[in-house]
Amino acid sequence: MTWWPETAADINTPRANEYKYVTEVLDYGWHNTSSPNTSSPGFNMRLEQAFAKKFGVNYAITHNSGTGTMHSCLMAAGVGPGDEVIIPPLTAAATALVVIYQNAVPVFADIDPHTFNIDPESIRERITPYTKAIIPVALYGQSPDMEAIMAIAEEHNLVVIEDCAEAFLAQYKGKLAGTIGHMGSFSFQGSKHMTCGDGGIVITDDPDYSRKVRYGMCFGFSTLEAESAATTAPPREVRQDPGFARHLTLGWNYRLPELCAAAALGQLERLDDLVSWRQAVAAGYAEVIGDCDWLRPQEVPEGYVNSYWCYTVLIDTDEITWHQFRDRYVEFGGDPIYGAWRPIYLEPVFTEERFYGRGCPNHCPLYKGTPQKYGKGLCPVTERIQPRLLQFRTNWDQQRAQQQFEALGKTIAYFEGNS
Ligand SMILES: Cc1ncc(COP(=O)(O)O)c(C=O)c1O
Repeated sequence: MTWWPETAADINTPRANEYKYVTEVLDYGWHNTSSPNTSSPGFNMRLEQAFAKKFGVNYAITHNSGTGTMHSCLMAAGVGPGDEVIIPPLTAAATALVVIYQNAVPVFADIDPHTFNIDPESIRERITPYTKAIIPVALYGQSPDMEAIMAIAEEHNLVVIEDCAEAFLAQYKGKLAGTIGHMGSFSFQGSKHMTCGDGGIVITDDPDYSRKVRYGMCFGFSTLEAESAATTAPPREVRQDPGFARHLTLGWNYRLPELCAAAALGQLERLDDLVSWRQAVAAGYAEVIGDCDWLRPQEVPEGYVNSYWCYTVLIDTDEITWHQFRDRYVEFGGDPIYGAWRPIYLEPVFTEERFYGRGCPNHCPLYKGTPQKYGKGLCPVTERIQPRLLQFRTNWDQQRAQQQFEALGKTIAYFEGNS
């Protein structure tokens, strides 16, 4: 096979700059790098500036998770009790839970049966006078139809927060995923394209959103501005004054440790390779699947570039169950495959509404909409497709990837009666 990128050896091995930058932090010694006013040796600031440059946006704000990022974005968007936020049900729990964190109401729109991404038409059907924001998820490495989503948002004056936790360098009609909505959110959690164990970042072109996202990230500090805190902090005499008013708004502590920022910067510097690697592994799976008519990979429409956090395939036949497929695949030497997450609204936290225990957000006195009923039938396309999805990992080294391709080939042959 000729599809391996030349520059990547083993995707999971840290490279020289990751070690170098982390060592720089350690050599500097422990001190109050977490303060929004200092950031020596400055890796949060360097990471923010490099990330913003890479994505061609004005601002980037580091966080300690890709959940905290979205929470800060919701706060910056002014989402709170009584508001509805439209999200897809096929995503990590984080996308839905951050809405609950803000005591707002998650409203689930169905997915497209081919791309598995949120369906703009379903979004349109879910809009009410209480809708305040949409969080479209770039699922498995592929952007949803952002043109259609932004048109709906404009029509109804909604804020769009792109959840791109899984979609570094994915493209939509020539634009990078995360740069199309009002804010874009990324995760550096261990399974993601670029990682530092845990972490995340928000990008935006809007100085007002940037400043408010920083407030969310760090206790609503009055010293925070749209730009990196390290470049905008007022002088010490001001900050050390006992009368100094520090906390302008509500905010959380979502600071990213310098050690993680250092590792993440090293990863960012080779993000192109990290993404190409996954795309190459995805191409390997695609080649094996070939024209098999009962395995249907996530469709990549014209003008989209999927960055393949994972390679996702629908078992498009009633003859073979998910468990039968997985058992054979493992028997043939494949690594155990994950199924897709249950639709979030079918998780006990939603069906039982185990939130704050006071009926909120659905029965919050500030909510004037129709309380959502989280249960079967809410999003029929998702419920039909989700139990039949196979999420093949793409962050294998070359040898393990080869093993997966062979197992996949044998599994297909087995079910086609050619084994
Ligand atoms: C689509 C999606 N959104 C949000 C998150 C949350 O990110 P984190 O784990 O960094 O909080 C994840 C994964 O972890 C994810 O896959």
